Amino acid sequence: MPVAAPKKSRSTSRRRPEPELIFGDLWEFDPAPESADPRLAERYQLFIGGRFVAPKSGKYFPSINPATEKPIAEIALAAAKDVDAAYAAAAEAAPRWARLPGAERGKYIYRLARLLQDRAREFAVAETLDGGKPIRESRDFDVPMAAAHFFYHAGWADKLAYAFPGADPQPHGVVGQVIPWNFPLLMLAWKIAPALATGNTVVLKPAETTSVTALKFAEIVREAGLPPGVVNIVTGAGETGAAVVNHPAAAKVAFTGSTDVGKLIMRSTAGTGKKLTLELGGKAANIVFEDAPLDQAVEGIVNGIFFNQGHVCCAGSRLLVQESVADAVLRRLRNRIDVLRVGNPLDKNTDIGAINSKEQLNKIAGLVKAGQREGAAMYQSKCRLPRTGWYFRPTLFSGVEQSHRIAREEIFGPVLSILTFRTVAEAVEKANNTAYGLSAGVWTEKGSRILKMSTALKAGVVWANTYNKFDPTSPFGGYKESGFGREGGKHGLADYVKLT
Ligand code: NAI
Ligand code: MG
Repeated sequence: MPVAAPKKSRSTSRRRPEPELIFGDLWEFDPAPESADPRLAERYQLFIGGRFVAPKSGKYFPSINPATEKPIAEIALAAAKDVDAAYAAAAEAAPRWARLPGAERGKYIYRLARLLQDRAREFAVAETLDGGKPIRESRDFDVPMAAAHFFYHAGWADKLAYAFPGADPQPHGVVGQVIPWNFPLLMLAWKIAPALATGNTVVLKPAETTSVTALKFAEIVREAGLPPGVVNIVTGAGETGAAVVNHPAAAKVAFTGSTDVGKLIMRSTAGTGKKLTLELGGKAANIVFEDAPLDQAVEGIVNGIFFNQGHVCCAGSRLLVQESVADAVLRRLRNRIDVLRVGNPLDKNTDIGAINSKEQLNKIAGLVKAGQREGAAMYQSKCRLPRTGWYFRPTLFSGVEQSHRIAREEIFGPVLSILTFRTVAEAVEKANNTAYGLSAGVWTEKGSRILKMSTALKAGVVWANTYNKFDPTSPFGGYKESGFGREGGKHGLADYVKLT
C-alpha cells in the first residue's frame, strides 16, 4: 500500500478518512465487520419528497437474507399512485435543482459520498445480509466503489461546460431508474451520482430482493440535507418497475437488469420521446493464450467467474483457452476451486456467499442440468455447504460446444463454461459468437496481440491480463443485446444531458 494507512481503531465512533484515502482500495476497516451493527429497521417506507411515507395500499413484502432464508425487514410495496407521488416530488424539485450552481450541487454530492464512507461498515453488513455477497466484497468493493462514484461525479458538477465545450449541457429533468440485485448500492451510485451531477432529479427503484441499502441511502440523502424531491426511492417488484419506466413525467429512463426486461422497456418507451439507456446481460469470453502467465491467468479466471457468486453481468463466464495449454489450465482451475470457501457471507474468510434468491438458485441448477444433458464434462468442488441458505458449488464445464445452452445463455451463477481454440482468428470468432457484447478478457504477454484483440472483440470493456477492474472514470456498457449507453467517465455523463 503506497499511502500510509490510518491507525486501526476498534472504536465505532465516526471518523473522517484522510483526504487521500477517499478511494476504495486504500481503505482500512476495523477487523471484525461481522460484528458491526447494520442498524436495520423492522420496516422500510417509501422515500418521497424528502420524507419516509407509507405506501397508499398499506402493503409490505419481506426482504429475505439468502444465507438464512429468514426475513430481515419489511419493505413497502409501491403501486402506481405512490410512483405518481414520487414523480410529482421529483418534478417539483427539478427546476430549482437544475438552476443551482454546479459547485453547490457538487457540495451536496460530496456530502453524500462522505456520509456513505462514515457509515461504510454498517452499509457493508446490510448489503451482505440482504443480498448474500461475501462481507469481504461488500466491505472492500461495493461500498467504497459506491462512495468513489459520488466523489467522482461531485467533481464534474461544476465542470460540465468543460466536459461538453460549446454544447450548453442541460439536464433532462426527471429520470426514472430501475436497478438489479447483484450490486444494489453500487448500481444505485452508478445511476444517482451522474444524474444529480448533471442537474436531474430521480425516481429510483431497487430490486425486490435487495432494497435495504437503497433505503439506508435515503437516510443519508436526508442527513446530507438534499432539497426534498431531488432523490426519491420507491420499492416493489416488476410492476412497480414498469410504473417507474412508463410514467409520463420520466424524461429519461435508465435500466440495469435482464435482457428480457430490457427488451420490454425498449418497446414500451419507443415513440415516447424518452431518452433510454440499457445495461443488460452478458456472456463474456475470457481468452487465455498459450504465452500467458498461467498462474496469474488462473487467478483472473477465478475472479472473473466467482466474484459475487457469478452474479455479474460482465462475468468471464466463457473461458476460451488455447488448446496447447488447456489441460494445464483445467488442472490448475480444479485445484483452485477445491480451496474456495463457500459459506456464511458474514465470515470474512468466505470467498463465495449465498445465491441471491431461490429463483436464481433454481435457474442456475436448471442450466447446469442442461450442460450435463448436452454432454459437457462437469467438475464441482467438494466443499461442504451450509445446511440452510441458498448455495451453489463452484462448477466447471469442459468440452463445451458453442451450441450448448451453457455457452450461450447467461447463467449468472458460479459456473464456468470452458471452450478451446487453436488460432487467434478462431478465438475472435468464438468470442464474438454471442448475442451479448458487454465485456471480455485477454491473457497474453504480447502487447500487439492485446491491441489487436481489443479492436476485434465486440465488447464494451476489454480487460488485458486482469478482470473485473472498475473505476468511476472508465465508461462501462454494452453492444448488441447487452444494451446501449455508457455509465462512468465522461461518456456516462453524456447520457444524462441534452446537448445543443
Ligand atoms: P430482472 O430484469 O427481472 O430484474 C431487474 C430489475 O428490473 C428489478 O428491479 C426488477 O424489479 C425490475 N423489473 C422486472 N420487471 C420489470 C418490468 N417489466 N419493467 C420494469 N422493471 C422491471 O431480473 P431477474 O428476474 O431478477 O433475474 C433474471 C436473470 O436476469 C438473471 O438470472 C440474470 O441472468 C439476468 N440479470 C442480469 C443482470 C445484469 O446486471 N445484467 C441483473 C439482474 C438479472
Ligand atoms: Mg434480500
